[in-house]
Amino acid sequence: MALLKIARMGNPVLKKIADPIADPTDPQIAKLAADMIETLEDVGGNGLAAPQVHVSKRLVVYRIAAHQIPAGADFKPLPWTVLVNPVIEPLTDEKKPIWERCLSIPGLHGIVPRHTRVRCTATSLDGRPIERITRGFHAMLLQHECDHLDGILYPMRMTDLSTLAFNSELGERGFLFPRPVEEFVEDNAAATT
Ligand code: NI
Repeated sequence: MALLKIARMGNPVLKKIADPIADPTDPQIAKLAADMIETLEDVGGNGLAAPQVHVSKRLVVYRIAAHQIPAGADFKPLPWTVLVNPVIEPLTDEKKPIWERCLSIPGLHGIVPRHTRVRCTATSLDGRPIERITRGFHAMLLQHECDHLDGILYPMRMTDLSTLAFNSELGERGFLFPRPVEEFVEDNAAATT
């Protein structure tokens, strides 16, 4: 296991279209995913795409930790999940603004319109198909991470750059913590892992 260096905005690796992973069961991919998770645990992050650790491959790791879920939301924490070659398909044209941060753009946040409901298909590290139908925060997180695989950072999706701001300027109240309960909904019946 190893802590990995995170590429910041401006690094060319973040602008590239990442390569598909030919063999999701390759032990080198499992090691990369484990190192990415360890790196996220170390910095307290929730999602990371391989290009952010200077590896231009289509690999994403993410979780939804209990502390992110606002009180009163009917939503269970999601353990660390590894997505190999994920593909996002919007299930609605509707987009809603949601604030985002990115480990490659430290200290900032911005409000980004995201599809409110998406299907994510991918392969697991043991070669099984994964399908998740997600809404709200979960759907945004997947769109954000998968955008990294296509060289897209969240400011490139923003429609109102006046909302791009330093976290430290918002003072004690932080920036919109906790998130609204309505961002935490899930198509539980339709979701499989
Ligand atoms: Ni990011």
